[in-house]
Amino acid sequence: HDYKTDHKQLTQWYNKNKRSLPWRENKNPYRIWLSEVMLQQTTVVAVIPYFEKFLQKFPTVQDLANAPEADVMEAWAGLGYYSRARNLHKAAKALAAGGFPKTAAELLELPGFGPYTSRAVASIAFGEKVGVLDGNVIRVLSRRYGLKLEWWNGKGRDHLQKISDELSLLGQADVVNQGLMELGATVCTPQKVMCMLCPWAATCVSREKNLVEKLPLKKPR
Ligand code: ADE
Repeated sequence: HDYKTDHKQLTQWYNKNKRSLPWRENKNPYRIWLSEVMLQQTTVVAVIPYFEKFLQKFPTVQDLANAPEADVMEAWAGLGYYSRARNLHKAAKALAAGGFPKTAAELLELPGFGPYTSRAVASIAFGEKVGVLDGNVIRVLSRRYGLKLEWWNGKGRDHLQKISDELSLLGQADVVNQGLMELGATVCTPQKVMCMLCPWAATCVSREKNLVEKLPLKKPR
């Protein structure tokens, strides 16, 4: 597949339609990182007030690193999945001591940084051309290219990861990645898909083949 047109359409759509969100105000890696960790299991609407309050309490990585664990947990209270906060605090200590690494490969070594978070921070904060893969991106790409693959297995994930990387390599990875996330969050949603608002509607394979509701495949349980 030639991803050039897809890249252009996605980029133009995102630049025109992106929501203004507090973590999109600037490229401060600490802010980007905090937003990505908070957004992992929590919706945008729920995250916004926590994000603002957390930054007032701990304005820099250094402030977070120096804070007592109890204060960090208190600021996190209500967001759930508390291992996220413990890892955030651990990683802050490493980052305050050693500085913020700029590549996904280096970020991956830090507590709480999985492939998704490492790639999101490296691309959005530092412009590294690496693609992200999360639930939204899996859904958008599976539908656009009509991929009936087992995304929960290594092989299926690798295939999607390659497409995401290809799209990022064609231009600004921060725009591509956030464009895919945004498309999945606002247009190409799990239910009530709004194809008329999609920049890829004319070429979407699952739309043409009536597979939108069938993709991505459901993970067996
Ligand atoms: N979900 C995960 N990361 C996001 C981001 N940067 N913007 C909006 N939603 C997201």
